Amino acid sequence: MSKKKLILITMLAMLMVFAVTAISMAANISEASQTCISCHKSLGATKNVIHDWKDSKHSEVGVSCYECHEAKPSDKDAFKHNGYTIATIVSPKDCGSCHSDAVEQHNNSLHAKGYDFTKKSGLYKYIGEASKISGCRTCHGSKVKVLENGKLDPSTWPNNGIGRVNPDGSKGSCSACHTSHKFSVAEARKPEACGQCHLGPDHPQKEIYEESKHGAIYAMEGDEWNWDDPAGEWNTEDFRAPTCATCHMSEIGDAKLTHNVSARLSWELERPLSVKTKQWKKKRSKMKSVCTECHSQQWTDNHFDRLDQVVNTYNNKFYKPYKKKYEQAKKDGVLTPGGFNDELDWKFFEFWHHEGRRARMGAAMGGPDYVHWHGFYELAEDVQIMDRLLKEAYENAEH
Ligand code: HEC
Ligand code: HEC
Ligand code: HEC
Ligand code: HEC
Ligand code: HEC
Ligand code: HEC
Ligand code: HEC
Ligand code: HEC
Repeated sequence: MSKKKLILITMLAMLMVFAVTAISMAANISEASQTCISCHKSLGATKNVIHDWKDSKHSEVGVSCYECHEAKPSDKDAFKHNGYTIATIVSPKDCGSCHSDAVEQHNNSLHAKGYDFTKKSGLYKYIGEASKISGCRTCHGSKVKVLENGKLDPSTWPNNGIGRVNPDGSKGSCSACHTSHKFSVAEARKPEACGQCHLGPDHPQKEIYEESKHGAIYAMEGDEWNWDDPAGEWNTEDFRAPTCATCHMSEIGDAKLTHNVSARLSWELERPLSVKTKQWKKKRSKMKSVCTECHSQQWTDNHFDRLDQVVNTYNNKFYKPYKKKYEQAKKDGVLTPGGFNDELDWKFFEFWHHEGRRARMGAAMGGPDYVHWHGFYELAEDVQIMDRLLKEAYENAEH
């Protein structure tokens, strides 16, 4: 064969391969999205988007760039981009056109209210705006503001907080647990997905989990488990111990898959004084049905008896009596009115918000070190310190 002919045949073959790939891609991926991909895959900076998307379920089912980023010209955050009208933010409302259940459940959870909890805080006059933006609202969510020039206000963006208020009014960021552009269930099922926010002195769920037997088993064997099964099929053949998601969200036993993390909670453990949630019996029985996939009824019931005992001890032996003394001192005028003024205000805050939560959360999720050393031990010590401060306050008032 002549060299010329060989080149011609090779070129023809290459053309055919190219045509076939183009056709098979076109069958699956919209024309608009193919334009996005062809340019973005050659960009230095955001190539990763294409890699992650290729690894995702969405690429298998033909959900691509334009299907998610498309915007109406009237959308607050819409901008013209290489012939298309798009938005950077893909809000829960956008995902909801295909995943309405997840969005509705999320909206019914406390997660969706994350931003609201940061509207006011006695701490703001001390910590300043920077901490509110890069601290509080990075976990809780910002209210994203679109500037006059169409850009997103740097004090509100980027943000993947759990209750982010989007320009379209919808609440939350689905990438808080399954990051873009993989959007994988496997990732969201692992405790690290929650631990980014659920840690630290005031809500150490991540640390409690790590020291629980469940977390220890996860740490030892988790990398051998099967994380990818679709919801409903992911069960105790795939894993030996539960993660955050298993207990609070996954479909297991009689508990149906839910994006409402509040749906299985019988107590408000984050409050100064714990109270039962509305319809708490129903919620507790859902949570128990998770446990009884692996444990006996007796094991499970006894665990919750102990949780109640810890919560009641905190409420009645620690919180209520001290709250009474504290309020009396405010009434007697020996303390400055309002919060976070006197040293006692700060201590009383830590008493319920740090120590008190740790004891209760520790008991809920199997972390004995948090129940005792970081919990009740410190509550008892706080009482000593607060009593001294209170005595001083009354003495100072007399002078
Ligand atoms: C001709 C090239 C080209 C095409 C076609 C293109 N983009 Fe882009 N896109 C870019 C460049 C360049 C940037 C800027 C990257 C940067 O800021 O570093 C960008 C940025 C973006 C951003 C981020 C904007 C921001 O500032 O946060 C999104 C989202 C985006 N593109 C989506 C799309 C979608 C969806 C399509 C298809 C409808 C598309 N792009 C088509 C080149 C392109
Ligand atoms: C399933 C929906 C979905 C698909 C499909 C999708 N995106 Fe995105 N994209 C998002 C979300 C969510 C974000 C993060 C912003 C947010 O939280 O709203 C994002 C962010 C981006 C950003 C900004 C990233 C950064 O770090 O600055 C770019 C650029 C982008 N997308 C481009 C693309 C391109 C190109 C494609 C096609 C391969 C694509 N997206 C497909 C949902 C999607
Ligand atoms: C145009 C429709 C459409 C849009 C928009 C869309 N998805 Fe999907 N998504 C699908 C389909 C179809 C599947 C595959 C079938 C399934 O698993 O439900 C899927 C699967 C998923 C999965 C399961 C992945 C896995 O590992 O099994 C997650 C998580 C997900 N989508 C999240 C999102 C998020 C978050 C958004 C918005 C940022 C979004 N989707 C937007 C259609 C869509
Ligand atoms: C981006 C931060 C963030 C991530 C990630 C996150 N959460 Fe949360 N979560 C919060 C915040 C903030 C609150 C408290 C305020 C609220 O509910 O809005 C909260 C509250 C909760 C509550 C209490 C709800 C109630 O009704 O009292 C549960 C349970 C919970 N999260 C479970 C989870 C689980 C499980 C995961 C992972 C699968 C997770 N969270 C991931 C920020 C996050
Ligand atoms: C590291 C992430 C993170 C930061 C930073 C953070 N929070 Fe939270 N916040 C959470 C989580 C997680 C919870 C859920 C606690 C629980 O239910 O155990 C929570 C709970 C709360 C609650 C109680 C909500 C309820 O259900 O009653 C309020 C109020 C609150 N945070 C306000 C703030 C404020 C104000 C700031 C900053 C001064 C802040 N948070 C900083 C993650 C965070
Ligand atoms: C608090 C963490 C968290 C947030 C926020 C979150 N997800 Fe999920 N999502 C999960 C977990 C965990 C699973 C897997 C549950 C299981 O084990 O089956 C999941 C599963 C899914 C699935 C697959 C369900 C199925 O039927 O196959 C879809 C689709 C999905 N999420 C969409 C979304 C959308 C849309 C949003 C935004 C409204 C969102 N998720 C926000 C944690 C989260
Ligand atoms: C073995 C199951 C299990 C695992 C694993 C688990 N939890 Fe929990 N969690 C519970 C139970 C039970 C409660 C208390 C429920 C009640 O109030 O009835 C609870 C309470 C909570 C609360 C307190 C809600 C409130 O009232 O303020 C948060 C937040 C939370 N869990 C988040 C997490 C996170 C994040 C992880 C992983 C790091 C995790 N959980 C792991 C079972 C579990
Ligand atoms: C996927 C299976 C699975 C689920 C679901 C599960 N556990 Fe476990 N749990 C285990 C395993 C395995 C052990 C170790 C048991 C052993 O050594 O016999 C364990 C141990 C425990 C222990 C003993 C802790 C210790 O310090 O030794 C308690 C208490 C417990 N689980 C309570 C619960 C509760 C309450 C729930 C539901 C909220 C739950 N578990 C859900 C698998 C599970």
